[in-house]
Amino acid sequence: MPIDRRPDDMTRITTPELADAFIEEQIAALRAQIGDKKVLLALSGGVDSSVVAAMLIKAVGDQLVCVHVNHGLLRKGEPEQVIEVFRNQMKANLIYVDATDRFLDKLAGVADPETKRKIIGGEFIEVFAEEARKLDGIDFLAQGTIWPDILESEQGIKAHHNAGGLPEDMKFELVEPVRILFKDEVRIVGERLGLPANMVYRQPFPGPGLGVRCPGAITRDRLEAVRESDAILREEFAKNGLEGKVWQYFTVVPDFKSTGIKNGKRTFDWPCIIRAINTTDVMEVTVEHLSDELIDHLVKRITTEVPGINRVLFDYTPKPPATVEYE
Ligand code: XMP
Repeated sequence: MPIDRRPDDMTRITTPELADAFIEEQIAALRAQIGDKKVLLALSGGVDSSVVAAMLIKAVGDQLVCVHVNHGLLRKGEPEQVIEVFRNQMKANLIYVDATDRFLDKLAGVADPETKRKIIGGEFIEVFAEEARKLDGIDFLAQGTIWPDILESEQGIKAHHNAGGLPEDMKFELVEPVRILFKDEVRIVGERLGLPANMVYRQPFPGPGLGVRCPGAITRDRLEAVRESDAILREEFAKNGLEGKVWQYFTVVPDFKSTGIKNGKRTFDWPCIIRAINTTDVMEVTVEHLSDELIDHLVKRITTEVPGINRVLFDYTPKPPATVEYE
C-alpha cells in the first residue's frame, strides 16, 4: 500500500536523484494497489493533477482514464496543452469534455461571487460524474491531494478537496500518489516524469478560473477580453524574464465602461486591470512593481489587441487590505 503519512524524518525531495527514487517507489506501490483494475482522474492541467496523471501513466498505462473538463473558464491555450501533452505525447487515455456552453449558460446573469463559485464547483462534479457513469469497471479514483491539503484539513482551515463531492452512489478507492509531498517536491517529481517546465512551474490558478476575474455576471465577450489580456500579460512576463520570478499575475476586466477614443472615434469600453503579486504564504502579499517600459508596452498591446478594452489600470494594493482575486 502507498505510504499514508509523511514520516517526520522524510528527506525533502530537492534533487533529481531523490525525485527518481520517490517515483520508482510510488510506481511499485501503485502497481501493487491497482493491479489490473482501472483508475479515473479529473485532469485539470494544474500541477498536482498533471503530476498524478504522469505518474499513473508510467505505473499502469491505459488502465488510467483521464477526464479533462473544459469549463470555458480556462486560460488561453490550456485545454490544447492538456491534449497535446497527455494524449499526443504521453499517449494517455484522455476524455476531453468541452462543457463551455453548459457552464456559461448556467452562469448567465449570476452576479453574486459565492453563487458563481457554487455553480462552477457543482457543475464540474456533475459533468465529471456523468463521464464516470459512462465508463465500466472503474475501481479507483486518483486525486492530486498534496501534504499541505492534509495539514490544512487537519487544522480545520479548509476541507481538503478529497473525493471531490461525488454523488453518494459513486464509491471508489482513492489513489493519491503525491499526498506526502510539498508543492516544491511535486514540481521536481513532475519534471522528472517528463512534464513541460511551464506546466510544473506554473503560477497558481483558482479552480473557478477566469470566472473570478470577470467580476459580476459573466458575459462571453468580457470573458474573452479577460482571456486575451491574460495571454498578453503572460507572454510579456515570459519575454521579460518575470515568469517563475513573480508569484502570480493576471488581468481582471470589471463590469463597467468608460469613454475613450480610437481612430478619432468615441469608444465606450471596459478597463483592464493588471495585478502582479509576490508572497510566500498567500496570507500576506506584496505588489510587484513593473518597469515603466513594460507598463507602457502592456498598455499599448492590451488597448490595441484586445477587443472591448480602452483603458489599462494597475492594481498596486497589497493583501491585506485587498485579497489576491477580485471575487
Ligand atoms: P485570495 O483571493 O483569497 O487568493 O487572496 C489566495 C490564493 O488562492 C487562489 N484562489 C483559489 N484557488 N480555488 C483555488 O483553487 C479558489 O476558489 C480560489 N480562490 C482564490 C488565488 O488565485 C491566490 O493564489
